[in-house]
Amino acid sequence: MERKKVTISDLMDKKEQGRKITMMTAYDYPTAQMVDQAGIDTILVGDSLGMVVLGYSSTVPVSMEEMLHHTKAVTRGTTYAFVIGDMPFMSYQISIEAAIENAGRFIKEGGCEAVKLEGGTEVAHIVKAIVTAGIPVCAHIGLTPQTATMLSGFKVQGKDAESARNLINSAKDLEKAGAFMIVMECIPNILASRITKELSIPTIGIGAGKDCGGQVLVYHDTVGLFERFTPKFVKQYIKLGPMIIDALKDYKKEVEEGKFPGEEHTFKMSKEEVEKI
Ligand code: KIV
Repeated sequence: MERKKVTISDLMDKKEQGRKITMMTAYDYPTAQMVDQAGIDTILVGDSLGMVVLGYSSTVPVSMEEMLHHTKAVTRGTTYAFVIGDMPFMSYQISIEAAIENAGRFIKEGGCEAVKLEGGTEVAHIVKAIVTAGIPVCAHIGLTPQTATMLSGFKVQGKDAESARNLINSAKDLEKAGAFMIVMECIPNILASRITKELSIPTIGIGAGKDCGGQVLVYHDTVGLFERFTPKFVKQYIKLGPMIIDALKDYKKEVEEGKFPGEEHTFKMSKEEVEKI
């Protein structure tokens, strides 16, 4: 059955009706198709692809060209989910013009519906400019991996009253600037719950407890395809990595033993034709 694409007003309806929004990352065509078929509301082409797909040690080196390459593959595989492209480090900080131009590339070339960028009050003017240009923006506060060095590493944010107050103010400033949704990463549940209640736009949590408007996880963490490290907030629903290694070992063994390809994988030619060669 053909399903109509999820829109921002569908996401707002979920917020108003107290129904949870689901988000999953995807970085390629087959994964996007599977996430779409599972009926997940939104796909984030996260710059986490730098770590889980490209093997970088952080998201910092990811370029616009790499993001667009993967975003195009994801949007080709998506008919239902609302697709958000993640603006990589330094694609929106240098100037407002560059931010609008790069956000526009995600929409025009990448084929996605919205962009996401990291930061609080200090990026609200950038969010406003991109939204004014007609591009929906999802904000991202709390632990912001692109600037983790400034945060002294990958740590839970907003644990004391002052930093919690700053995050509440950031969320409100981003809403005022026109963001349609806010991802909150690695903050205490009680703070995420308060921000969620105080905003009229939906919040999406990752390591922010169950009271957010929805949840996002990185695909490779969720299905057990990334073993370098697993943050506390990740739930691994399946361990695909060892299953794939077993399948590849079976393939290697069967090739080495002459068991693959079998008759059923082999093309035939009639005897008469063979004799004419
Ligand atoms: O890049 C990413 O996948 C993200 C999510 C973790 C929210 O930003």
